[in-house]
Amino acid sequence: MTELIREIDPLRARLALARERGLRVGVVPTMGALHRGHLALIAEARRRAQVVVVTVFVNPTQFGPNEDFKKYPRTLEKDVEACRAMGAELVFAPENESVLYPPGDETRLRVPETTKHLEGAFRPTHFEGVATIVLKLFNVVGPGVAVFGRKDYQQLQVVTRMARDLFVPMEIVGIPTVREDDGLALSSRNAYLSPEDRQKARGIPEGLSAAVAAWEAGERHVQPLIAAARLPIAAGATSIDYVACADAVSMAPLDELARIERKAVLAIAARYGTTRLIDNVVLGEDPAPIG
Ligand code: PAF
Repeated sequence: MTELIREIDPLRARLALARERGLRVGVVPTMGALHRGHLALIAEARRRAQVVVVTVFVNPTQFGPNEDFKKYPRTLEKDVEACRAMGAELVFAPENESVLYPPGDETRLRVPETTKHLEGAFRPTHFEGVATIVLKLFNVVGPGVAVFGRKDYQQLQVVTRMARDLFVPMEIVGIPTVREDDGLALSSRNAYLSPEDRQKARGIPEGLSAAVAAWEAGERHVQPLIAAARLPIAAGATSIDYVACADAVSMAPLDELARIERKAVLAIAARYGTTRLIDNVVLGEDPAPIG
């Protein structure tokens, strides 16, 4: 049975009981519009905890002024159904913003180095909003483990850094990106794509797969790996924000002329029409998106 909880106090009371009984709590933070990628996060949380809380909250502070906060899909009834089918015990979905941002709220969290480049450079206030809401959710839920998707790779590094720096006593787990049959990463934002742009967006998994193929053939220099990824993406994208290689932990970009000597992520952000998509592969670790 899945319980829908809208306020902090009843959620805390319910979880205090679980903890008293020695049960480990797992949390899956989401903004709702759940798809198979989210279901994989819930399945992982279920493997690692006895009580699973899925949070559903479209967090206003992580959207920039011209971003899609207002039109972000809100599908709570279906989301609760999906959580029920996955066996999550609790869905925490605040009825309005003031549950998590009560009047007078002003504290914000910054993780300046990990957020300096890539997404952080193009969405300057985004990670401040993410880090702040994630710590709020951790403090409300008190989980032993939280599960995030590796599609939002930089977000995973930001949350991991934040939890480590602030001694948040819990485990943070990232799980592989779930993809459509043609390799496109699942994202709630895919729903915005026109059929034509959806076709063109296949250039993203094609580009990442070309980079993985080059890596597997022994290429270790940044520039050719980026070039291999960029070509198919540039063929269909309306615009490209970045195709870049970065250190897989610090997220510092690697010089285009450098040879890769440590774990690196190849990350991209591109627009198809007005829809902005992101994706990545950790070189030497992730399989090619198109198998
Ligand atoms: O990845 C998301 O859906 C959001 O950024 C998160 C982690 C739920 C914070 O609002």
